[in-house]
This record gives sequence, C-alpha cells and structure tokens, in this order.
Amino acid sequence: MTEPLTFALAKGRLLDETLPILSALGIEPTESLTGSRKLMFETNHPEIRLLVLRATDVPPYVERGGAHLGIAGKDTLLEYGSDMLCEPVDLKLSACRLMTAMRVGATLPSTGRVRVATKYVNVARAHFAAQGRQIDPIKLYGAMELAPVVGMSDVIVDVVDTGNTLRANGLEPRDLIAHSTARLVVSRVAMKTRHALIQPLIESLNAWVDKQHAA
Ligand code: PRP
Repeated sequence: MTEPLTFALAKGRLLDETLPILSALGIEPTESLTGSRKLMFETNHPEIRLLVLRATDVPPYVERGGAHLGIAGKDTLLEYGSDMLCEPVDLKLSACRLMTAMRVGATLPSTGRVRVATKYVNVARAHFAAQGRQIDPIKLYGAMELAPVVGMSDVIVDVVDTGNTLRANGLEPRDLIAHSTARLVVSRVAMKTRHALIQPLIESLNAWVDKQHAA
C-alpha cells in the first residue's frame, strides 16, 4: 500500500482557520487536533493523514518529504525561500503585511550596519540589501516590538495586522515588504508523484476560495 498523503498544518491561529476548510472538503480528523499531545492524526480518508507543526516547520517538512503538502503563511514561505516548493492555492486567510517598524520619529543610523530584530532574518537582509544597507540581525522568536524600545535594535521586521501591537509599544510602521496570506504549499516532487490525490485537492480548495469571495 502506498503511504498516505501527509498534510502538514500549522498550529495556532491558522489551525483554527484551516480545520473548517478541511471539513468543507470532507476531510475530518478522527480525533480532536487541539487538546492532544499527538502530532500525527488519521482522518476519515484512509489515504490522508495530518501533521500539526509549528508554522515555521511546515516548509521544511514539505520540502524534505516529511509531508507532501501543507498550509503556511506567505511570510514564512518568503523567509524559508525554497525553490522546491510551489504554492498552487492562495487561501486568502490570515492576511497581514510584512513590514519594517521603528520607534516613532526615529531614523536609521546613517552609516554602518542596521541592527534588525526579527524572526525574518533572510527577508530583512534582502530588504535592506536592496537599499544598499547591510544588517546586523538579532534573531528573536517573539516580542520583537520591545527590541527598539530597550535600545537593542534600530528597526524590526515583523508581520503587522491591525497595527495595535506597534502602537502599544511606541513604534510606527515604515516600509511595506510584502503582503502575506495563507497558501497551500506542495513539494514539486509530490506534485508529480502524488498528482492523482493532490490535483483534486487543489481544485476543491480553489473552488472553496472562489465561493468565499463570490459577490
Ligand atoms: C503577530 C506579530 C505582532 C502582531 C501583529 O504576533 O508578531 O506581534 O501579531 O498584529 P497587530 O498588528 O494586529 O497588533 P502573533 O500574535 O501572531 O504571535 P507571535 O508573536 O507568536 O507571532
């Protein structure tokens, strides 16, 4: 028997938005994904199983064949930067903007490396390189809004939704780097080897997105 199609989901806020989509496609986990320490789940489809991962781990799992496909934010995919992954469906969920932000009224140092606090080090490096600036990255996993306030960084690169977190910490948005939404991500290998199962899923997901955005 061929191994089941393995679908990697990101835990947290995105998972809450993803489960109703899977349900709309007729894919139901056989037990609750939240309230469990398990990481792999069977579904009502014997040929489809689910993994529940940290959002940043979805791209490497899909790229390295630990999963055939997954759902990840464009922000995470830009940071991971793999050409072995394709994004056949924009789910138009979890919309946010990847931006730089600084203390209100602050300016970048005129020379030298820009100290950037972020979990998006690759994105930040490319963004500032395009402005002819090198960065001194400070890799953080949360609460980067604090870094400029305590004088640890000149700027942050982070996702912004309402802007409330920036405002609450005395920061203001500056450069828009990219818009981000959740994407279906599939490895180029699985796209070929598991085409018969993946193609109908892509079509159903595209139909689901169209229905959500129909006038
Ligand atoms: C994100 C991001 C900001 C906040 C932005 O954090 O890191 O802190 O949301 O949203 P806002 O513009 O609406 O205030 P999230 O809550 O996703 O948690 P995280 O720090 O674990 O990424």
